[in-house]
Amino acid sequence: MKIFLGFLLLPIMALSQVLLINTSNRNSTTLNGNWNYIVDPYETGYYNFHSEVYDQKNVNSPAAFYNNYHAKNKSELVEYDFDKSPFLSIPGDWNSQKENLLYYEGTLWLKKSFDYNLSNSSNRLFLYFGAVNYKAEVYLNGTKLGVHEGGFTPFNFEITSVVKAKDNYLVVKVDNKRFKEAVPTINTDWWNYGGITRDVLLIEEPAVFIQDYTIQLKKGTNSTIAGFIKLSNAVKDEKITISIPELKIEKEIQTSAEGNIQFEFSVSSKSGKIKYWSPTSPKLYEVFIKTSHQTLKDDIGFRTIETKGVDILLNGKSIYLRGISIHEEYDGSRANGESDALVLLTWAKELGCNFIRLAHYPHNEYMLRMADKMGLMVWEEIPVYWSIDFNNNTTYNNAKNQLTEVITRDKNRASVIIWSMANETPLSEARNSFLKNLINHTKMLDSTRLISAALLTRGEKGVGIIDDKIGEHLDIVAFNQYMGWYGGDLATAPNAKWETPFNKPVVVSEFGGDALQGLHGTKDERWTEEYQEYLYQQNLLMIEKIPNIRGISPWILTDFRSPKRVLPGIQDGYNRKGLISNKGIKKKAFFTLHAFYKKMALQYN
Ligand code: GCU
Repeated sequence: MKIFLGFLLLPIMALSQVLLINTSNRNSTTLNGNWNYIVDPYETGYYNFHSEVYDQKNVNSPAAFYNNYHAKNKSELVEYDFDKSPFLSIPGDWNSQKENLLYYEGTLWLKKSFDYNLSNSSNRLFLYFGAVNYKAEVYLNGTKLGVHEGGFTPFNFEITSVVKAKDNYLVVKVDNKRFKEAVPTINTDWWNYGGITRDVLLIEEPAVFIQDYTIQLKKGTNSTIAGFIKLSNAVKDEKITISIPELKIEKEIQTSAEGNIQFEFSVSSKSGKIKYWSPTSPKLYEVFIKTSHQTLKDDIGFRTIETKGVDILLNGKSIYLRGISIHEEYDGSRANGESDALVLLTWAKELGCNFIRLAHYPHNEYMLRMADKMGLMVWEEIPVYWSIDFNNNTTYNNAKNQLTEVITRDKNRASVIIWSMANETPLSEARNSFLKNLINHTKMLDSTRLISAALLTRGEKGVGIIDDKIGEHLDIVAFNQYMGWYGGDLATAPNAKWETPFNKPVVVSEFGGDALQGLHGTKDERWTEEYQEYLYQQNLLMIEKIPNIRGISPWILTDFRSPKRVLPGIQDGYNRKGLISNKGIKKKAFFTLHAFYKKMALQYN
C-alpha cells in the first residue's frame, strides 16, 4: 500500500474553528427540545439597564440577555427573565411555530440550560449547530464563544474550558434580517425562516480525536480507495487503522508530523469487487477509522462520476438525470428531521427520480444520508442566488465559507455528484470572476465531483441560446427556463429551437408552472391542475430536442412558502409550482412526469 502523496482532497485547512463531520456517529448529547426565547427587535438584549442613556450599547452589561441575569433583590430593576419566557421547540424555525412570528425578521434570543459531566477529565467538549438562519452569536455561561454567518451550514465551538458540571446556560442570539451584502441577498423566492433550524449537539471527543477525513474512490480509478485523515493534534507516528470489513480491508498507516496523512490503497480482487454505489444499488460500506484514542464509524458508498463529451458517466455508464428540485420545507415549515427527509425523498422515488436538486442552499445532513441510503444522486447548492453583491469581497468570503462548510460536511457522501455555484445570477464581469473563484476553490477542496450552476439563457430570432460564458468553467451546463409560465407559447413549445456552443452535458435545472391542488378547468386556464399538466406535457416534448440534454430537475416537488406569492385564494403566501401540494396531495402533472421518467429509465438502462 503506497502512502498517497498526491492530493485527492486537501485536508480542509483549519477554519476559524474545527468543523466536526459525521456527527451522527460521534459521542453526542442532544440539546434539542424546548428553549426559552425573547423577541428583541430593538436589540435591547445587549443594553445595561443600569445605564443612564438607553442607547448605550454596553456589551459587557451584567444584565445583558447572554448573562441570563436574575434580580438579586426585590428592588433591583431587571426587565427580562428567560425562565419565565415562552418556549420554542428546537430544532425549528420561529415563523411556523408562532403565528405572531410568521413574518418576523429580526433579532431573537434563545436560552437552554443543561448540566454536563465529561466522562474523562482529559476529554474535549464541542457545541455543534446543524444550522442557524441567518446570523448566530453564541454565549455559554456569559462567555461569548463566537459568531457564525450563513443560514444553512453547520458550525461548532470548543467549550471544554467554559462548561460546568451543573446549571450551564447557553444563550444564542439569532438575527435573520436580510441585507444586501448577505448570501442570499435581500430578494429570494422562499420564506426567510429564522432560528436554530437544525440539531444542536454536545459532542465529547478524546484529547486527540479524528478531526476530519475523506475516504472515497480516487479520481480516475474504480479500484483505488484514497483520501486523508486529520487528527486534532499534531501527534507524529500515531498509528491509524482504516478498515472496511466487508471488503476484507484493514490498512494501518502512520500520521505525519502534522498529525495527518494522505493514503491510497487498491482493493485487490481477493477482497472481492467493490459493489459500486448507484441509484439502483445504493451500496454503503461500514468504514472504521481507529486510533489509540477512538474508533469512528461511517457508512460510505464508492462510485465514480465524470463527464465525457456530452455524457454524464456514473460508474462508467452514461446516465440521464431524472430529477426534481426540492426546497427544505414540509407542510409550511423547515424540514429538518430524518422523518421529513424520508417523506420528501420517498415522494421523489415514487416520481421515478434517480436525482434531486437540493435548492437553493445546503439542506440538513439527514437529506444527504437518506439520499445515500435510498439511491438518489444529489445536486448541492450554496445560496448565491439572483443579484447578490458580486463586487463585495466580504460577500465572496461568506459564499466561499458556506461552500467550504458544505463540502467539508458532505465530501464522503456518494449521493453528492454535483456542487452548484449559483442560481440565476445576472451576467457581469464581477459575477463571472466571483463564480470562477468559487469554482477554483471547489476544485481545490474536492476534485472528484462535477461542478455546475443554474444559468439563465437568452433568445435570438426565436431560438433559445444557452451560451452563458461561465459555462466554459462548468462540467455540466444547467439552465432554468419557464416556457409556458413566464412567457412563450405552450401550443408550439415542442417545436421550439435551442442551441448551445458547449460540447458538454446540458441539464434543465428548472421548468414548471403553478397549480392550486384541486382547482380544475381547461388546459388553457392558468392555476388549474390541467394547465400545469399540459405545461409539463409540452415542456417534456420540447426538452427532448434540446442538444446534449442529459437530465432535468423540474421546479418543484412540493408547494412552498414565499412572501412574494400573494394571489388570494390561489397562492396565499405559497409558490404553487409543486407537483404535490403543501398538504401532501399529488397533482395531475406528477403523473405526467412519472410516465416520462418510466420511459427514460427504460431508454437509459
Ligand atoms: C426561479 C427561481 C426559483 C423560483 C422559481 C419561480 O427561477 O430559481 O427559486 O421559485 O423560478 O419563479 O417559481
